[in-house]
Amino acid sequence: MNGKFIVVEGLEGAGKSSVISRIVDELKSAGKTVEQTREPGGTPMAEAIRDCVKHDWDEQVAEETELLLMYAARVQLLTNRIHPALKKGYWVVGDRHDLSSQAYQGGGRGVLESTMRSVSEIALKGFKPHLTVYLDVEPAVGLERARGRGELDRIEQSGLAFFERTREKYLALAKSDDSIVTIDAMQPMEKVHSAVSALIKQYVMGK
Ligand code: TMP
Repeated sequence: MNGKFIVVEGLEGAGKSSVISRIVDELKSAGKTVEQTREPGGTPMAEAIRDCVKHDWDEQVAEETELLLMYAARVQLLTNRIHPALKKGYWVVGDRHDLSSQAYQGGGRGVLESTMRSVSEIALKGFKPHLTVYLDVEPAVGLERARGRGELDRIEQSGLAFFERTREKYLALAKSDDSIVTIDAMQPMEKVHSAVSALIKQYVMGK
C-alpha cells in the first residue's frame, strides 16, 4: 500500500505553517498516519545543508551552488524519509519540495531551463508529489509578514524583483500542471483555511 505526498508551497509569508497544520488535522481525522517534512531539511544532514544555504556568507554564492545544495538536501530527505514513509502507506505532508527550486532558482535566480531539467532528473528520477497546494501571495505582502517574524536570511534578502520573478514562475508552473492547486493567500486566513480543508477532504475521498 502506497501513501500520498502532499506539498505546500509559496513565498515567504504566504502562511504555509498554519495551512500545513490544517492539512495534517484533516488527514488525521480521515484516519491517515501522517509524517511531516520540510525542505531544505528534515534529516540531520539536510538540516545542516539548510543552515549552510541560509547563512549569509562573506563570499559570492553561485546560483549553481545554491541549486545543488537544495537538491542534495532533497535527495537525503527522499532517501531517508519520504520514500520509506510512502512505502509504509503513510501520508507525507511537505513544507516545500521541488517546485521551490523551479520557482526560486529557475525563476528567481534565472538558472537555465536545461540545467534545471538535468539536475532534477538526476536527483528525483521522475518522482513528484501527488498534490501541491500553492499559496499565492504578492511578494511585498509576504515579505512584510516575514519581516515581522525577525531578521531576513540570505535568500530572503534577495530583493523584491527576485521574488516577483519567483512568483511568476510559481504561477506559470501551477497553470501548466493539474496536480498543483493555487489558493489566494491574500484572503482572510479563515477563507484560506476553509478552501484548504475542502480541497483535502475532496482529495482524500477520491483516493
Ligand atoms: P522556509 O522553508 O523557512 O521558507 O525557508 C526555505 C528558504 O529556502 C526559502 O527562502 C525558500 C528557499 N528555497 C529555495 O530557494 N529553493 C528550494 O528548493 C527550497 C526547498 C527552498
